[in-house]
Amino acid sequence: MALLPIITAPDPRLKRVAAAVDAVDYDVRCLMDDMLETMYAAPGVGLAAPQVGVLKRVIVADVARAGEKPQPMHMANPEIIDASGDISVFEEGCLSLPEQFAEVKRPNTVRIRYLDYENETREQDMDGFLATCVQHEIDHLDGVLFVDHISSLKRGMILRKLTKFKKADAKAEAKAGA
Ligand code: NI
Repeated sequence: MALLPIITAPDPRLKRVAAAVDAVDYDVRCLMDDMLETMYAAPGVGLAAPQVGVLKRVIVADVARAGEKPQPMHMANPEIIDASGDISVFEEGCLSLPEQFAEVKRPNTVRIRYLDYENETREQDMDGFLATCVQHEIDHLDGVLFVDHISSLKRGMILRKLTKFKKADAKAEAKAGA
């Protein structure tokens, strides 16, 4: 297994639509393993393949709280096949938008169809924080970030901050390399 570098916004690679996988084969399982390891190390509760530069419809998640038994989830080609009219609001963050948070409204309950680690098709009902997390990760597969769900004013503020961070990092790296 290996830790993969996480792409941070703004970056055009985070705005692209990922392609479905034909099957969860050895290569996709290796990608899932690396993504899960990368997510735990970050640490984060979810990660989508485009965030590590792979344009495939693959996500991993684990919303277990500290002290609880880990509940790793591996999903390929996840689809929302049903959603409730009830809305929940959670403060969301993203490994691709470090240290930025905003409240996002999403359906509270969703039914998700996906291919699991063994390439079996599954359907699962999810609610609360898990439902929000999986919807956030599926968004990444369509080039959508959580800031795309908030006001353009707030989104602009967050993206300007991230652009500043990136410029500062690039300067520091140039200095270190000089
Ligand atoms: Ni994210």
